[in-house]
Amino acid sequence: MYTQLEQRGMAEPPVNISTLMKMKAAGEPIACITAYDASFASLVDRAGADLVLVGDSLGMVIQGHDTTVPVTVDDVIYHTRVVARGLRRAFLVADMPFMSYSSEKQALENAVRMMQEGGAMMVKLEGGAGQVRIVEHLARHDIPVCAHIGLKPQSVHKIGGFKVQGRDAKKARQMLDDAVALEEAGADIILLECVPNELGKAVRASVSVPVIGIGAGPDVDGQILVLYDVIGITPGRLPRFVKNYMEEAESPFDACRLFVQAIKSREYPAPEHCFS
Ligand code: KIV
Repeated sequence: MYTQLEQRGMAEPPVNISTLMKMKAAGEPIACITAYDASFASLVDRAGADLVLVGDSLGMVIQGHDTTVPVTVDDVIYHTRVVARGLRRAFLVADMPFMSYSSEKQALENAVRMMQEGGAMMVKLEGGAGQVRIVEHLARHDIPVCAHIGLKPQSVHKIGGFKVQGRDAKKARQMLDDAVALEEAGADIILLECVPNELGKAVRASVSVPVIGIGAGPDVDGQILVLYDVIGITPGRLPRFVKNYMEEAESPFDACRLFVQAIKSREYPAPEHCFS
């Protein structure tokens, strides 16, 4: 799909891993957002998102569950396939759901499905040192991997709620070691959720791959939010790092465009979106 677009002489070529590495090297923040269907995928792509994630947050924002735990591999593949149809430029990442990567064999089979049936260009999985073997196995088979550390929503029942992670020195040290081990195992991106600014900065300094933050402060290589939070349709109390761009926009497209611009200009995240 993307090769054909490239051949058709698009003004801006599709984003790939090299583009993301170049953006990191140039200090250009990477603008990321989630999407779950073709219409919104097209909208966020036109708004300038560099990376689109089909997150297992779909369990909460699409399916109405309280957590991401019930999401299945088939759910993610379905949403990835429809999102792929809406994208022209953005890099497409699909989430590996809860317990879909508990062994090397299972992880490889499911990652291959995400890529072949869904059209994903990279898979994301949650984990620290415990997932190093899995990441190594996927990387050995040339599957691009984003390793999600910090707050891991799939572990919500184990950690007892959605909480800021790495506040004490021992846990912060462990997270740094995990980031390094995951990069060494072959992870191409580290996604860091809900940690103090200082830890976001330290993780970025410890690895050479792009670090994308969600509630990880300003000193990382890119930012991501859940689309429905950016366009203000998530009800109830929202995490501190969320900003509803519909408050200053005239349309959902405008809100996504403002979000991308705010990431690029480093206006987002502001101090009120951060943990210290
Ligand atoms: O599932 C998801 O949407 C995510 C993002 C919040 C990073 O993991």
